[in-house]
Amino acid sequence: MSKKIAFVTGGTGGLGTSICRSLVDAGFTVVAGYFSGGRHEKAQAWQEAQRADGYEIDIAYGDVTDEESCAKCVAAVEEKYGTGIDVLVNNAGITRDGQFKKMTWDQWDQVLSANLDSMFHMTRLVINGMIDKNWGRVINISSVNAQKGQFGQCNYSAAKAGIHGFTKALAQEVARKGVTVNTVSPGYIKTEMVAKIAQDIQDKITATIPVGRFGTPEEIGRLVAFVAEDESSYITGSDLSINGGLHMY
Ligand code: CAA
Repeated sequence: MSKKIAFVTGGTGGLGTSICRSLVDAGFTVVAGYFSGGRHEKAQAWQEAQRADGYEIDIAYGDVTDEESCAKCVAAVEEKYGTGIDVLVNNAGITRDGQFKKMTWDQWDQVLSANLDSMFHMTRLVINGMIDKNWGRVINISSVNAQKGQFGQCNYSAAKAGIHGFTKALAQEVARKGVTVNTVSPGYIKTEMVAKIAQDIQDKITATIPVGRFGTPEEIGRLVAFVAEDESSYITGSDLSINGGLHMY
């Protein structure tokens, strides 16, 4: 039987790279979606670096905020492999942090567009194929800051909390069709996104994490691959927290 196709948006980024690698390890054919402002050579260099480490991962260009760009990207992948995407990991995301009293519409709009509208654009393109095959996995990457809120992240917390509403509704619609839909909510993970936070604030945040450290991207990749497995078919509509105990509920 041919391998299942997994597509990871933001696949060449901090979390995305580990998610892609874990899915390769789990036996999927993996395609990393990238945008990087259209810097294709950056994605190609990423692909070469993965190959040098023994990971064969395809790459596909697409802007998750743009319906047409997503459609072109998914069509190209489906044409190349002659089949629909079996596992969609909606991982692409951005931050534009700042206190709400100073937040601009652009800061709001960019974050909602990249983190939440992207769920519509990408999932809408693959869900019917999954239903037709009677098998599929949609795994949406949210955040601990959706669950608990975060000073300076009204836009991000709103978008990431919206993700889990989407997960729960869609999970109900496709549960009888062999398709599971889940949210994975990481805490603070050692990526470029977290590195952008001022060091003194990072230290304060670390002090509030019971486990006493930031997580690693590999820890997130491992959980995503677990959710994607055939044997995980009874997990649906869940919000899987992986945050070192930062938020328990
Ligand atoms: N709770 C309450 N008050 C706080 C606070 C908090 N957590 N943090 C700061 N304040 C207060 C400060 O004490 C200060 O008060 P005074 O004016 O009375 O002195 C005031 O708010 C202003 O604080 P800042 O100087 O920090 O304000 P700023 O506007 O320069 O910076 C900020 C705001 C950029 C949002 C900064 O606070 C920050 O970077 N916070 C961290 C945001 C964060 O955690 N982002 C996560 C990014 S990673 C990610 O998103 C991945 C994921 O999913 C986890």
